[in-house]
Amino acid sequence: MRVIRHLRSVDVDVLLRDDYVRTPTERQRVWMVNRAVDELVEALARADADAGTLVMGRERTPIEEGAWGTRAASVRDGTLEIAGQSVMQDWEAPLMERMTQRVCEGGGHVLELGFGLGLSAGMIDGACMRHTVVELNSEVAAAARRWSKTATTPTVILEGSWEDVMPQLGSFDGIFMDTFPVDDTEFERVVVRDATVAETFFAMAAGHLSDRGRLVYYTNEVDSLSRRHQRALLRSFSRFEVEVVRGLRPPDDCDYWWHDSMAVVTAYV
Ligand SMILES: C[S@@+](CC[C@H](N)C(=O)[O-])C[C@H]1O[C@@H](n2cnc3c(N)ncnc32)[C@H](O)[C@@H]1O
Repeated sequence: MRVIRHLRSVDVDVLLRDDYVRTPTERQRVWMVNRAVDELVEALARADADAGTLVMGRERTPIEEGAWGTRAASVRDGTLEIAGQSVMQDWEAPLMERMTQRVCEGGGHVLELGFGLGLSAGMIDGACMRHTVVELNSEVAAAARRWSKTATTPTVILEGSWEDVMPQLGSFDGIFMDTFPVDDTEFERVVVRDATVAETFFAMAAGHLSDRGRLVYYTNEVDSLSRRHQRALLRSFSRFEVEVVRGLRPPDDCDYWWHDSMAVVTAYV
């Protein structure tokens, strides 16, 4: 079976052997394969339409080798830098604002993974009953501990990786996930290969949410969710909501985001 689509400046030509997509009838096969090809065509057309709107961006440098926990962390001009990486920049404030509103809607006890510049922490503070923060980098964790002394919500800072710390924790009404790959192997897996950076966390997150609990995470999705992202969510959660924060302004030299929007997901167990 062959499906061909001609788009502006691109041809999509899909050739399937007979043993691929073996449905009971040929009509079903044609329907399923055409749907799949149409998804690809729509995604390409969207990429073409959006291409001119991206900021120039800067090439990402490899993550410097060494234990992330003990690396020096510095903040300059609104950028948190660790191991040669722009880990967090303050242009994300409007995104953090919407994400934290969503995670705090249920009130209760909110778990936050990754303190960064503390933007989201400052927004969660005062909007829930209890706040627990897990941060892997020692210097950032020290800044988080200093910040927590002025917090209005009872706040606990736990130093370590979420992978190590989570199994010792109970359940939460909200989980906010915004970490950063600590080496290039993790970068390849969570940013390049997976449908979304939090994908490997979904199952664990669902296991630590109360009945009314919700997960909100940095999605790395521009304006909607891919099908594989949705399927990954539905393996661990019963439902989710998607909205888009627009008007983001990553600077021209941003090395991790080039678009003026990002999708926000709220997932429920
Ligand atoms: C993007 S920043 C968080 C930004 C934060 N939401 C804000 O508003 O400023 C990511 C943070 O996650 C931390 N981190 C990276 N990997 C981690 C892990 N496995 N467990 C806990 N924290 C981690 C980094 O050290 C960094 O402070």
